[in-house]
Amino acid sequence: MENQKNRQRPQTMNSRRVYPSWLNQAVFYQVYPQSYYDANGDGIGDIPGIVQKLDYLQWLGINAVWINPCFVSPFQDAGYDVADYYRIAPRYGTNRDLFRLCREAHRRQIKICLDLVAGHTSLEHPWFKASCLPRRNRYSDRYIWTTSGTSDENVPLSFIRGYAPRNGNFVANCFYFQPALNYGFARPDADQPWQQAVDAPGPRAARQELMKIMEYWLSHGVDGFRVDMAFSLVKLDPGHRETIKLWQDIGQKIRSRYPDIALISEWGNPEESIAAGFDIDFVLHFGAGGFNDLMLNEHCFFRRHGGSNIQGFLKSYLAQAAATKSNGLISIPSANHDMKRLCADGRTAKDLKVIFTFLLTWPGVPFIYYGDEIGMRYLPGLASKEGGYARTGARTPMQWGDGLNADFSTATKDRLYLPLDSHRRRPTARKQVDDPRSLLNHVRKLITLRKRSPALQADGNLVPIPIDNNGHYFAYLRQSGDERFLILLNPSAEPCQFHIDNLRAGNIVTQINHGTRVDTQGNNINIKMAGVSYGVYNI
Ligand code: GLC
Ligand code: CA
Repeated sequence: MENQKNRQRPQTMNSRRVYPSWLNQAVFYQVYPQSYYDANGDGIGDIPGIVQKLDYLQWLGINAVWINPCFVSPFQDAGYDVADYYRIAPRYGTNRDLFRLCREAHRRQIKICLDLVAGHTSLEHPWFKASCLPRRNRYSDRYIWTTSGTSDENVPLSFIRGYAPRNGNFVANCFYFQPALNYGFARPDADQPWQQAVDAPGPRAARQELMKIMEYWLSHGVDGFRVDMAFSLVKLDPGHRETIKLWQDIGQKIRSRYPDIALISEWGNPEESIAAGFDIDFVLHFGAGGFNDLMLNEHCFFRRHGGSNIQGFLKSYLAQAAATKSNGLISIPSANHDMKRLCADGRTAKDLKVIFTFLLTWPGVPFIYYGDEIGMRYLPGLASKEGGYARTGARTPMQWGDGLNADFSTATKDRLYLPLDSHRRRPTARKQVDDPRSLLNHVRKLITLRKRSPALQADGNLVPIPIDNNGHYFAYLRQSGDERFLILLNPSAEPCQFHIDNLRAGNIVTQINHGTRVDTQGNNINIKMAGVSYGVYNI
């Protein structure tokens, strides 16, 4: 009961649920474990390595970490192909190392969230191996199998044919080696008896097993999960209605025992995922929300040259925010392991400072992808590793310092998980820690400000300031109680000036500023911004 009180009371009368209050001040950091820090010199990052870097994360102000899958796996998709949900992959350490990571993190007020690959396993999972057998057994219905190995099914799912002696084809979620777990079909087709209902015994057992996995890690100190492809569980599910119900059911049961955990979805549609009971969903490179319009497209908002105005992004974001209200939070990540890093296509540290000013003063929960805080580059053209393909260039080893292998690992170069950025002046954490003008210290300053300012936190109000559609700049207010901030961003190379009318500003205090000027004139504020500039003001 005590913990229940810590869950944020939503403001809307008809809200059905609440999220844990710690999320209001959370600043997440995503660790790709194989590339973070290699503590035993085998060339691959590991969990003891993360433990060793907790002080760095604490120094930066991070208070929650999401670790990509670290379970036993053949690593055909970097661990998104699990072979044993209950065991840490030996290359990362042991379960005890993970438990110690939780303890050490908690001592530093840092939460640890794992990656739950709920929708599929690897081909090597014992459940899948058993389900391949012709003779019926406990796992025959754990995956989705058709009833003939030679016929085509006329439904929009991807079927893998000819893999097993069992008379049937199985459904795969992404790569062929990711057989979909059977959570049932929203409207099973009576003419296709292999399509089972969500409450049939097979799908029910899959659901039970998923909850068991969650309970296992939660009971050992884990603080939550980022759920991989959370939208994908129930098949042929228009509007994801049955998938939403499934997650509501799981969330309710798990939270009755662990009320303060965070459930974070890879869904890319907060309107659906928050209704499903997730605390946080992402604005992603797919789905609703406009990440591409903001960060990735050639003509996205954050471009020095040829950028668009903010309206495309803002429209999709505000629609999602209105639909979720205070039931859950939306996160705009700096990047993740599936997309390009911010530092690509000619962006420099200066451009990244504008972007981080945005990310860390925006509502919802910021997620920083490891290395983005120092401006690590996306490395185009790397040979694919573990199913990474174009994503591989965003997964290279963290650049810690100026020693061997950028102090990532003591292994010989050929044994590194991936090659390091070979640029002579590649950024490193070491150099930037000591440089007050570095990107890293900018990020740290913003995090510090955010954590001490309720208006800048997840649930502080957002008031975008209307600007003329030709403007490639953006201004908004964040407020909570008496506290109010004005944030100014100009990612374009063009200087600009504009004014905000009828804004009663008290004393204006500059918090963070580069190239912006703010003057009051009665109730109006005149603003001048140099090219590529940003400012955060208390007003
Ligand atoms: C998610 C992961 C991605 C993985 C895929 C299949 O999108 O983020 O890395 O390849 O799911 O599990
Ligand atoms: Ca290692």
